[in-house]
Amino acid sequence: MKWDGKNERLEWTEEYNIDNQKMDEEHKKLFEIASKANNVNKISNPKEKEEYLRTVCMELYREIRKHFNNEEEYMKFHHYPNTQAHQVFHETLLDKINFIMVNINITGTSTAHHKLYYFMQKIYLEHVLKEDIKISQFISNKRE
Ligand SMILES: [Fe+2]
Ligand SMILES: [Fe+2]
Repeated sequence: MKWDGKNERLEWTEEYNIDNQKMDEEHKKLFEIASKANNVNKISNPKEKEEYLRTVCMELYREIRKHFNNEEEYMKFHHYPNTQAHQVFHETLLDKINFIMVNINITGTSTAHHKLYYFMQKIYLEHVLKEDIKISQFISNKRE
């Protein structure tokens, strides 16, 4: 069955919170940008669809990069012990979204949309819930 993005919507929910207001707000914003991709189904012209998705990916890439920079500064500021390893995760994630973005004209909009969904709701979310949460816990332990 061809994936049409109708049943699996890109979205952020409260369950993705990691109890750090600064990071949670930034993560939420990223998911809000990504969720613009849901509107691609409302466009019928294939060229316009492709352009629309590319624009969303570009904005998302820019904001993710900004967020990663902020997070890296934040880790350094708090002397988080795994900053370097975490930075490597970020680079890998940036490569993945870049790959989706630059290949839209090859994969086609539907596949790129699916890949973007998978990237945000699985790969990136896993990073937030497994890795970013460690930063949040480290900082809250320091504060106690
Ligand atoms: Fe991170
Ligand atoms: Fe993050």
